[in-house]
Amino acid sequence: MAEELGTRAVADGEPARWYDELWSAAGRGDVALPWDHTDPNPVLAAFAQPPAPGAGRRAVVVGCGLGADSEHLARLGWETTAFDISPAAVAAVRERYPDSAVDYRVGDLLDLDPDLARGFDLVVEIYTLQALHPSLREAAVTGLHGLLGTGGTALVVQMVRRDDEPRTAEPPWTLTRAEVEALAHDGVRLEALDEVPVEGRAYLLWRAVLSRP
Ligand SMILES: C[S@@+](CC[C@H](N)C(=O)[O-])C[C@H]1O[C@@H](n2cnc3c(N)ncnc32)[C@H](O)[C@@H]1O
Repeated sequence: MAEELGTRAVADGEPARWYDELWSAAGRGDVALPWDHTDPNPVLAAFAQPPAPGAGRRAVVVGCGLGADSEHLARLGWETTAFDISPAAVAAVRERYPDSAVDYRVGDLLDLDPDLARGFDLVVEIYTLQALHPSLREAAVTGLHGLLGTGGTALVVQMVRRDDEPRTAEPPWTLTRAEVEALAHDGVRLEALDEVPVEGRAYLLWRAVLSRP
């Protein structure tokens, strides 16, 4: 269903429209979300594990979905904000974690809340860039940069697309190495870029670490 809604939204000239449609369908029980998990993404779990320097430092999770990554960071002591463009997603995550320490909110990476600007020591972005149509990529990267404070680090995790693989018409719009490298500009540096296997899956992930020195 994600592929169908994504393709139709792009054809209608409204490429950012389909996430809330999908979340609402999930809320009605019409579809199971592929990203419904309660364990943190393994790449994040390996990156931020106890004892992590979370206490007193601020983290943000972009496109937080059902909150497994933001809850992980909050447990490690990060003062965590997590946002998603879909009000249905934010309602679902608040329902899942009613006593959470995380500040969950509706928010758009393409049009950031001003109070989030350059506010974070750690920015975590997992599978959201690839969920955004390539026509929205530049604005998405501006948003990502906009969250990162001076001295801060960003962890970006995306599925690998090889240079000889064509970009698909439907989501996910996965990234090539060059596209990940292109995330670094305007004072944001690429510190590391690795390919990471995923247990039980045929695909590989990009694990990119960026910084704003
Ligand atoms: C593929 S899901 C990944 C969810 C989560 N990061 C995970 O790995 O479980 C992408 C998420 O990004 C959200 N999203 C899409 N566009 C967004 C935007 N412009 N700003 C914030 N969130 C967005 C979607 O609603 C969806 O929850």
